[in-house]
Amino acid sequence: MTDLAIAANGLRKSYGDKLVLDGIDLAVPEGTIFSLLGPNGAGKTTAVKILSTLLPPDPAGGSIRVGGHDLLTDPQAVRAAIGVTGQFSAVDGLITGEENMLLMADLHHLPKREGRQVAADLLERFGLTDAARKPASTYSGGMKRRLDIAMTLVGSPRIIFLDEPTTGLDPRSRHSMWQIIRELVAGGVTVFLTTQYLEEADELAHRIAVLHDGRIAAEGTAEELKRLVPGGHVQLRFTDPATYQGAVSAFGTASRNDETLTLQVPSDGSQRQLRAVLDRLDSAGIEADELTVHTPDLDDVFFALTGGAAAVPAQNDQPDRPDQPKEAVR
Ligand SMILES: Nc1ncnc2c1ncn2[C@@H]1O[C@H](COP(=O)(O)OP(=O)(O)O)[C@@H](O)[C@H]1O
Ligand SMILES: [Mg+2]
Repeated sequence: MTDLAIAANGLRKSYGDKLVLDGIDLAVPEGTIFSLLGPNGAGKTTAVKILSTLLPPDPAGGSIRVGGHDLLTDPQAVRAAIGVTGQFSAVDGLITGEENMLLMADLHHLPKREGRQVAADLLERFGLTDAARKPASTYSGGMKRRLDIAMTLVGSPRIIFLDEPTTGLDPRSRHSMWQIIRELVAGGVTVFLTTQYLEEADELAHRIAVLHDGRIAAEGTAEELKRLVPGGHVQLRFTDPATYQGAVSAFGTASRNDETLTLQVPSDGSQRQLRAVLDRLDSAGIEADELTVHTPDLDDVFFALTGGAAAVPAQNDQPDRPDQPKEAVR
């Protein structure tokens, strides 16, 4: 297939005798956001490093193509097609934001004039024009991350790897980062995003892969993943006790609450099952006063897939990123 920005089969990586990626398959269509979701230590950064040619995969693995190029035989072509914003900032704090940008322009061999123009445009786009002449060390966490992405964009990559772009950011900076990511994709760029946050994957990603124990435990749209776990139901609420009783006999298997006059009918949230509920109501001549569909959220999925306990860290629990500044200027 030519319309895949990233295609990997049986991607494997071990460090010594520690197996980190145990043969994972990835297929990311062009112009989409793909999220690799997993807790600390799951292997997200390892996957990003391999796909961006920074780290060799184990030789036993299958083929890997990025931007249409074979990663092993043509790494230079892959590098020309991609941009990487690593988990740890590439920003040099000793020089200004503008100087960081110009450095990137030099690395991409842009002519001086063009380099200055590209730098100015990107700084403007990411709201950094006012701070452009200040040392990057004075930037807040959100500003540094924006500068980091702006630097990645200097080479106009078609595929961008963002490794935990919002870890350590406050909610407002996180939302502004989400907006940036959406705009990138609206411009046709493919984004490979790693995150520990279910909410983030749910919000942004067209497809999500849950990384667990070195494997992809599940992969699909957020909605598809949510349908994998039980707990979904259709809730029917009634005001008239007689109608409620009619519904109780129509839905033998539903769980009932006689006080609130509500019924919960198990459902995976699919159109087919919802229609079955409606059909049954219709044929019994019953009209519910309220009908709501409850799908489990990604948390339910994540806990079900990963066995719970090890799960998702709280926002401020970032052992692998102790030096990440908060949004306050230091
Ligand atoms: N260079 C390395 N040498 C040995 N082990 C490593 C190395 N890099 C990462 N690991 C281990 O591999 C696992 C996956 O790490 P990583 O890819 O950084 O996970 P994530 O980005 O999901 O937090 C972790 O257990 C980590 O300790
Ligand atoms: Mg990581």
